[in-house]
Amino acid sequence: MKKIITISSLFSIALFIAACGGDKSESTQSAAAVNESPAAGGVEQYDPKRGEGKFKDVTVPEKLDETMAEEGKKNTFDVKCSACHKLTEEKLVGPGWKGVTSRYQPAWIMNFITNTDEMINKDPAAQAQLEICLVRMPNQSLTDEAARAVLEFMRKNDGVK
Ligand code: HEC
Repeated sequence: MKKIITISSLFSIALFIAACGGDKSESTQSAAAVNESPAAGGVEQYDPKRGEGKFKDVTVPEKLDETMAEEGKKNTFDVKCSACHKLTEEKLVGPGWKGVTSRYQPAWIMNFITNTDEMINKDPAAQAQLEICLVRMPNQSLTDEAARAVLEFMRKNDGVK
């Protein structure tokens, strides 16, 4: 019995490692599984596009705010995020940031980076990333302004001009 347990846990560790290469189907599957829980009666349903937090609808201009993006890089990314996030698709401790602004709505990103704990507890996509990375992103205590600026820097990293 003990042997069976050991083998199966080794197998799941191997699965996690394989998933770290960025196997999207794995994350979609677990996201779907989490989604199946029925909404409690009368409670407002969780909106996975927007996430959980104070930002309801964040609109971003089509054109990049170069100054804000530069601030977001210098004051936030370089100091508080770069230890765990690369600007490519490659995972470091957390997922690489390339493409992050097309994977999520601006409000989701703003809510995730200012309300990290609650988002990881509730959001299927954040939970799927947690399963892959095996590390919970710590709250970075960003002000709203810093969060908005680092979002602008993510947009720049994704090619917005
Ligand atoms: C100690 C490591 C660590 C630090 C520091 C960190 N993160 Fe994270 N981040 C993670 C991990 C791990 C995940 C994915 C797992 C999860 O949801 O916790 C993540 C996920 C994210 C995501 C979602 C990415 C995706 O593709 O799903 C965003 C956006 C993000 N972080 C932004 C930030 C910002 C902005 C900062 C700096 C202010 C930051 N992170 C600092 C570890 C970190």
